[in-house]
Amino acid sequence: MISPFSLPAVLRIRDDEFVLYLSTEQLRTRIMELAARIDRDMQGKEAVFLCILNGAFIFCADLLRCLTIDCEVEFLKLSSYGEENISSGDVRLVKDLCMDVENRHVVIVEDIVDTGYSIDFVKKHLEKKNPASLKIVTLLHKPACTRIAHELDYVGFEIPPRFVVGFGLDYARKARNIPAIYISKSDAITYE
Ligand code: PRP
Repeated sequence: MISPFSLPAVLRIRDDEFVLYLSTEQLRTRIMELAARIDRDMQGKEAVFLCILNGAFIFCADLLRCLTIDCEVEFLKLSSYGEENISSGDVRLVKDLCMDVENRHVVIVEDIVDTGYSIDFVKKHLEKKNPASLKIVTLLHKPACTRIAHELDYVGFEIPPRFVVGFGLDYARKARNIPAIYISKSDAITYE
């Protein structure tokens, strides 16, 4: 079993190799900083944190356990990558949220904003539901891969345009459980 105390330096999944990029401790420290900022900015407000499945489930769970404001959690499931490393741009809503968010303060929780197609889809979908406010928190952001730009209110780490796994992020459905972020040893992702 991989624990925070025995993370391998190199992770092998299928034919690819990934190296340790963000340790459990780095992630924990940054998530606590993000939570402190959200706590401060949303003081006195009741917020609904909308976890975008599947990837954000671990980040969302850790973030919410660091918050002190009144909050609720809700889930929405998207799919765009399938088993590919690069977004198809064809974002599909697999499961909608089950609560009314009209006049509620909503914070979208993402594990990663890459091309921006997913967050664009979620924002447009949520705006139709007339929330009182809409913010975005993402653990990771790949600015070099942006296809559709959106203001991101809270960003954990800006990362280079390489494939990452662990801490909720998968490679062909594997490695979501790894308690750290690993980065591909192969070349940067290139978009046509
Ligand atoms: C991942 C991730 C984000 C999205 C970001 O989801 O969780 O939702 O990609 O990429 P983008 O900015 O290029 O749209 P994915 O579709 O892989 O599903 P998953 O969360 O179930 O892994």
